[in-house]
Amino acid sequence: MTVNVPRIKLGSQGLEVSKQGLGCMGMSFMYGPPKPEPDMIKLIHHAIKSGVTFLDTSDVYGPHTNEILIGKALKDGLREKVQIATKFGFVQKDGKMEIRGDPEHVRAACEASLKRLDVGYIDLYYAHRIDTRVPIEVTMGELKKLVEEGKIKYVGLSEASASTIRRAHAIHPLTAVQNEWSLWSRDLEDEIVPTCRELGIGIVPYSPLGRGFLSAGPELIQNLSEGDARKNFPRFKAENLENNKLIYERVTAMATRKGCSPSQLALAWVHHQGDDVCPIPGTTKIENFEQNVGALSVKLTPEEMNELEQYADAVKGDRHSSMGTTWMNSETPPLSSWKAKY
Ligand SMILES: NC(=O)c1ccc[n+]([C@@H]2O[C@H](COP(=O)([O-])OP(=O)(O)OC[C@H]3O[C@@H](n4cnc5c(N)ncnc54)[C@H](OP(=O)(O)O)[C@@H]3O)[C@@H](O)[C@H]2O)c1
Repeated sequence: MTVNVPRIKLGSQGLEVSKQGLGCMGMSFMYGPPKPEPDMIKLIHHAIKSGVTFLDTSDVYGPHTNEILIGKALKDGLREKVQIATKFGFVQKDGKMEIRGDPEHVRAACEASLKRLDVGYIDLYYAHRIDTRVPIEVTMGELKKLVEEGKIKYVGLSEASASTIRRAHAIHPLTAVQNEWSLWSRDLEDEIVPTCRELGIGIVPYSPLGRGFLSAGPELIQNLSEGDARKNFPRFKAENLENNKLIYERVTAMATRKGCSPSQLALAWVHHQGDDVCPIPGTTKIENFEQNVGALSVKLTPEEMNELEQYADAVKGDRHSSMGTTWMNSETPPLSSWKAKY
């Protein structure tokens, strides 16, 4: 079935994107070895042709190779047909991952991403995580300059707390907040979602398929390749899997009833959160991409939404490993502390 992919305004500054994006991370990073470049370029071209034009990447994916891949895929006149979202903030230092939001890094990271993507501007530039050593006003001040210089068009934050979002938005309007949001990751609903709505900020749910678990269930875990980071995620550990597999089984049973796939059902639940919500499911396969676009035509009643939520609320295990930084530990110092220092 051909699905007409709607377009939406993300945030209040004018950015227009497809109602569903394409998460490109797994093509190069996190989920096993990088996938063959010609196949990934074919997939990106297929997505653009299908109307999915909002491409999500980051400088840390690879690192760097995912942005280079997207740059190659956009040769031959495709740049103006897409909206590129990329991110900065994760830096390798002495074999460890560090988060940086200081002005020097923001600028250097942006310039490096522009080169790797081989484009003149980035549509949406996010702080991938919040540097809790730097007042958010300072990070945003540099991002604002990059907007004024035309290097980036719009600004976003990923995994920021509600108060950080407010402080950031007061310096330069945020267009989007990217956070994990899916049937089994709903911690943002109490504070982050209402704050974004009050301020007119779009919401971009990452890992909307529960990193693939809501699509494939325990089979996903059995088939993970060496080096797949999901092996270390609490929800996929043996002690939680018995419980969590029930969620997948229940989602699958409802999907069968409704004549769609579990992926489509999980994604449809995210789409039903509103027109200011643009999920970015990740895939490395054209057939899965096609299935996921089909989610846009799955309709859910409020009763079905409730039923799905009840299944997934029983999830066991944190959504990130203990090393993961999330909005819950993302408060930054006051601006006065920075001024006093410099
Ligand atoms: N801001 C952040 O901190 C952050 C964190 C994580 C991710 N992200 C972004 O969000 C994007 C999406 O998140 P994600 O990739 O972590 O998780 P996801 O979208 O929830 O799930 C991706 C997984 O689902 C599988 N899948 C997709 N469609 C499927 C289908 N129809 N049937 C069966 N399996 C299917 C994919 O495998 P196949 O490749 O085999 O299809 C992949 O393993 C990423 O690509 C990245 O751009 C951002």
